[in-house]
Amino acid sequence: MIRGMPVSHDRHDLLRRVNKLIAESPTPQEAIQRTTALLEEEVRHYSWIGIYAVKGDELVLTSYSGPSATEHTRIKLGVGICGLAALQEKTIIVPDVRKDSRYLMCFPSTQSEIVVPIKSGGKVVGEIDIDSDEIAAFGASDKETLEEIAERIAPLVKRIAEET
Ligand code: SME
Repeated sequence: MIRGMPVSHDRHDLLRRVNKLIAESPTPQEAIQRTTALLEEEVRHYSWIGIYAVKGDELVLTSYSGPSATEHTRIKLGVGICGLAALQEKTIIVPDVRKDSRYLMCFPSTQSEIVVPIKSGGKVVGEIDIDSDEIAAFGASDKETLEEIAERIAPLVKRIAEET
């Protein structure tokens, strides 16, 4: 269990485990599901983890791990923090969701959020969206780790977006 910001050995362990589960998963969908489950299990300040795929002008939820389902299973590009990160092609960290009018509320318990675009061939094909029940939970280390994970799962998310 990683407490607070993942330190480098935890980070490398997490990345190794993502590589392993990708290699061992029978389908891209299964690999994505196992990735969200791993993040929920291993990082204490990650409360809800979702992976969206870009389909047309929408982000479509392909998999999530967390205590409850979200009603935002389809988000138009440009809408909410998720839609904005996809258009800007950059990671967005919101330290206090109550102070950000762009935020689309999903869970009353969420206090901060990070959205990391997943890119393939220079194009955004999806994103990782993580909510935390802690205020200002996300920092540079989360960004770095999640951007590496995004790179690793990019081919899988691209396939999911193309196939479904
Ligand atoms: N809060 C997000 C919407 C997705 S939910 O957090 C699952 C946003 O502002 O885009």
